[in-house]
Amino acid sequence: MYKIFDTVDEVSRYTTQRLLDKIRTQPTATLGLATGSTMEPVYAQLLASLHNSPLNVSKLTTFNLDEYIGLSADHPQSYNYYMHQHLFNQLDIPEESIHLPDGLTDNIDSACQCYSNAIKDKGGLDLQLLGIGTNGHIGFNEPLTSFNSRTHVVELSEQTRIDNSRFFNNKAEMPTHALTMGILDILEAKEIILVATGKHKAQVMAQLFHSSIDESLPASALKKHNNLTIVLDREAATLL
Ligand code: GLP
Repeated sequence: MYKIFDTVDEVSRYTTQRLLDKIRTQPTATLGLATGSTMEPVYAQLLASLHNSPLNVSKLTTFNLDEYIGLSADHPQSYNYYMHQHLFNQLDIPEESIHLPDGLTDNIDSACQCYSNAIKDKGGLDLQLLGIGTNGHIGFNEPLTSFNSRTHVVELSEQTRIDNSRFFNNKAEMPTHALTMGILDILEAKEIILVATGKHKAQVMAQLFHSSIDESLPASALKKHNNLTIVLDREAATLL
């Protein structure tokens, strides 16, 4: 299902409403969360809504999609830091219920396996929130990632390094590798909401809209899912 709104604000309100509905009806839900600039207004809206009408979030569990390798949790560009800044510091979710891949692990293979297993042990993700890269990546699953992948290490593509270097002082500071939940982990979520806003996402959204299911466009895997909502602002929808 596609939902197209005029503004980012409306996109954020709708997405927040979906998150609130989930928390209200299933206070013990396991949420898959995303980072990136698209999510900032969503999390701001979510915090504002919870501030006005509080809900019990203390029984939620969260799993984030990805993390840069080599950045500690207190590095300002790490996704762990981002999530605490934009959401967790102001929410009453116990720290032990919050999960992100560990970018500093010295046993990557076992850390990856544990991450996917931990999601399964919780009964899978009840709702997965997703952004999309301009090259169609979801999480950090770059083009040609297997649709059967579990949490794994990724070498970031040139396009992703260019796109995300805006958050670092320069491109050289930007990590070359990341850990990401796999596409199969994402597809096993019971409900998925993909959010894309802005002109710079128009091309990839058109590609997604018209493409067949193909590993060259990771987000096209989502077309196999039976409970997917794609939420766009007018700008991201201009080429559909
Ligand atoms: C980043 C993240 C993704 C995110 C995407 C879009 O690299 N790994 O999880 O959805 O790229 O980011 P943005 O919202 O900043 O455009």
